[in-house]
Amino acid sequence: MTLTKQRKLQGALFWALLAYSLDATKVRCPPSIIPCVCEGDRAGTKIKRMSCTDAPLSRSINTDIMLFGSSSKGFPEHNEVVDKLSLIYAGLTSIPAGGFGKIRIFHLDLQGNNFQDRISPKGFAGVGKYLRSLSLAWSNVTAIHPKVFRGMVALRNLSIAENQIREVPGTVFQHLRSLRRLSLAGNPISHLPGTLFRYQTTLELLDLGYCRLRRLPWTLFIGLWNLRVLDLRGNRLSYLESYTFIDLTMLHTLLLSHNPIRRLPTDVFHGLPHLTVLRLDESRIQSVARDAFRDLVELRSLDLGDNAIAFLADGTLALPGLERLHLDGNELTEFPMDVRLMPRLRSLDVSYNRIVTVDRCLYPYLRRLDFFNLQENHLVCDCGLLWLRALRAEMETRWRQKTAGVYHSSVPLLSGRCVAPERLRDVGATSWLDFDCLQTGQYSDLLHSVGGTTGVQLNVTDLLANGGDGCGIRSDLHDKRINHRRRKLRHLAYLSRDLHYMRRSPT
Ligand SMILES: *[C@@H]1O[C@H](CO)[C@@H](O)[C@H](O)[C@H]1NC(C)=O
Ligand SMILES: *[C@@H]1O[C@H](CO)[C@@H](O)[C@H](O)[C@H]1NC(C)=O
Ligand SMILES: *[C@@H]1O[C@H](CO)[C@@H](O)[C@H](O)[C@H]1NC(C)=O
Repeated sequence: MTLTKQRKLQGALFWALLAYSLDATKVRCPPSIIPCVCEGDRAGTKIKRMSCTDAPLSRSINTDIMLFGSSSKGFPEHNEVVDKLSLIYAGLTSIPAGGFGKIRIFHLDLQGNNFQDRISPKGFAGVGKYLRSLSLAWSNVTAIHPKVFRGMVALRNLSIAENQIREVPGTVFQHLRSLRRLSLAGNPISHLPGTLFRYQTTLELLDLGYCRLRRLPWTLFIGLWNLRVLDLRGNRLSYLESYTFIDLTMLHTLLLSHNPIRRLPTDVFHGLPHLTVLRLDESRIQSVARDAFRDLVELRSLDLGDNAIAFLADGTLALPGLERLHLDGNELTEFPMDVRLMPRLRSLDVSYNRIVTVDRCLYPYLRRLDFFNLQENHLVCDCGLLWLRALRAEMETRWRQKTAGVYHSSVPLLSGRCVAPERLRDVGATSWLDFDCLQTGQYSDLLHSVGGTTGVQLNVTDLLANGGDGCGIRSDLHDKRINHRRRKLRHLAYLSRDLHYMRRSPT
């Protein structure tokens, strides 16, 4: 036994002893399970909660869990209801048929045991219909019988995460019609039956993270109209079919990070009108179809960091609600001009790319940012980039006002260093000043007002206010084109959706 385990056990014993002597709401546990802690009602006659953390039950009683079954002598007969029973890290090695007898247990936590394939299909018979939550996580489960969850009509939370389950029987969840949260995370599952979640229309959270899923059957998420969070991180998904998520009309968060996805085809996120958070970082993405994100009108946070994106067609990121965008760690050589189409953007990270310059016409869009990271790019510090210095001044002024003298370690603009020209190599991208730039072209009007001293602050509002700046951005045209595309796509989607249902209905 490890030291921590021992200490925990001692702790449990301590509490159990304390239960005998002091606390009125603590009640006697049955003699066979002294290391547990029992809590009762005020009268102290009935057990309402029982926790047996780190208690080597199998050593203190003869047969694992039978203490609750018919052979139980220790468990008081009048205890028909135990609100919560925790047998966490209790050293249990099996759940025999009828192991919990007929007690009404509402919350059953069995995580951290070592069940392997020894959970009887009738292990929860009698108790199943009362259960509202059940955890079998971290219990070395290798197989689940198709009927093990039978009759659990009231179950809301089920976790069988972090086990060794390879196959999930297609009908195993069919009685779970009240389920809200389901986790299968961390199991070596490479394939899920297409109709596995067929009856889970009430499901709100589905965690399939860090399994070994290679593909998602196109029927897998059909009917999950109430799903809010879908976690698919850390799988082996190398291809996402168009319309895979089409039924998830309430989905708020979709996590797809750490998958070898490579490309995002047209309509892959179609049918997600309420999607707010989308994570696609570390997914080896090289290409993004121009229409991939078009339906995500409510998207606020998009993470495309640490991929291999070298090019994003204009309009790909036309996301009117977007507030946070991560494009760091890609291979972009051009700054994404689409920031013009994100009026609510507040945080932008394009660090670790190969961006050479930032168009000064983006000033009105970038000045709204609270955070802008441009570090580790290939910036060429010529006259075209001088305005960045003014952007920094403005962002920092606003930031200082906001934080109102309170010390804050982060800064709003991380501009990185110049890579060229040679004389400015490794100089901060906002730390240089070239008076020749001020004299020529775009900055000439400004020369009078800046006076020519070092430490001068360019005022970009002045700089770009007058129409003669060459920044004619025709956003109206752009929007019209996008709206037209949207309408067309929506029409196509409805057609395809009808097709799904036709194919699904048993005729
Ligand atoms: C899990 O089961 C395997 C056999 O399948 C066994 O070797 C291993 O010790 C078990 N792990 C734990 C934590 O009990
Ligand atoms: C299910 O889990 C969530 C999150 O852990 C919790 O807030 C909720 O109370 C649980 N519901 C039940 C019935 O246990
Ligand atoms: C820039 O100039 C405009 C008007 O000329 C002025 O309103 C604004 O406060 C100035 N901004 C800064 C940062 O000095």
